[in-house]
Amino acid sequence: MTDFASTIDAAASKMWTGSIRQVCGGALEDIVSLIPTGEPRQKITVASLREKKRHHQSISCLTAYDYWSARLVDEAAIDIVLVGDSLAQAILGYENTLSVTIEEMLHHTRAAGRGVKHALLVGDMPFGSYQADAVEAVRNAARFVKEAGAEVVKVEGGEKRADLIRRIIDAEIPVAGHIGLTPQSVNVMGGYRVQGKSLGGVEQLMRDAVALDQVGVAFIVLEGIPREVAAMITAEVETPTIGIGAGPDCDGQVLVIHDILNLTFGPPAKFMRRYGDAKMLITDAIQAFRADVAGRQYPADEESYHLPKETRTALETVLERKRAMRR
Ligand code: KIV
Repeated sequence: MTDFASTIDAAASKMWTGSIRQVCGGALEDIVSLIPTGEPRQKITVASLREKKRHHQSISCLTAYDYWSARLVDEAAIDIVLVGDSLAQAILGYENTLSVTIEEMLHHTRAAGRGVKHALLVGDMPFGSYQADAVEAVRNAARFVKEAGAEVVKVEGGEKRADLIRRIIDAEIPVAGHIGLTPQSVNVMGGYRVQGKSLGGVEQLMRDAVALDQVGVAFIVLEGIPREVAAMITAEVETPTIGIGAGPDCDGQVLVIHDILNLTFGPPAKFMRRYGDAKMLITDAIQAFRADVAGRQYPADEESYHLPKETRTALETVLERKRAMRR
């Protein structure tokens, strides 16, 4: 960075959430919406997540799949924006996560990335993009970084994925693990069932978590497991754990943004908490628009463009002349 640029950057970061790119020639839409905060926000990194765990500071994570939602999540100071493969159901209307393609995941990770400035951007590797062989897995993981700007990729599976994850990390790509109820294994699990309820299941989950800890994943998502098991894993590993349906003792929590906003169409899971009703808000707005259009209440005169006075006068003269010729 030049001296000039770094001076401007330092000054800007004191007053605004924003970067030198925004201050010096970013898109107009970016510049006008900079938010004064007083305290400059730190960029969240893999290292800062570990720091948070060490200092017992809880880590927040939400899914987002496009520019506007990622931007709102980022501006709300959520630590991690996860472009989850729940994209499949939440955005694309698929039955489950198995159908979503790597091209679809990359497309949405790119869009979300444009809205993220401080959060850690994580891209979920979809079913079929890493299971076949390590070379293909590394190549696909690199696509998330190179083509979509992901800072971490997420891979489902524990002990049996440890070697593969090591290969991706060796290629300088941080990886997040995901164990317990892993939706890409829905056909093997025979449904979306809480995992780790038997002694054998608890032992397997511990082995999975320790294997991921040893290969050095960025964080471990613990999904759909008993609170007691999540607490044991969290105490055992140095890696931050992020729970979803895993109780309050994890190092952080993740939820799907559509769930917290009531934008899903099925019954909510036990662990789900609704923080807003966007479905009602959106439906009310759509119905009000439809009624206004039906009743010719929209647009009003103030919402219409008008001819300039001179053009209107000239037009009236022309029309008057035409009417006179017809008489
Ligand atoms: O795809 C997703 O949304 C996820 C979270 C539920 C952790 O993997």
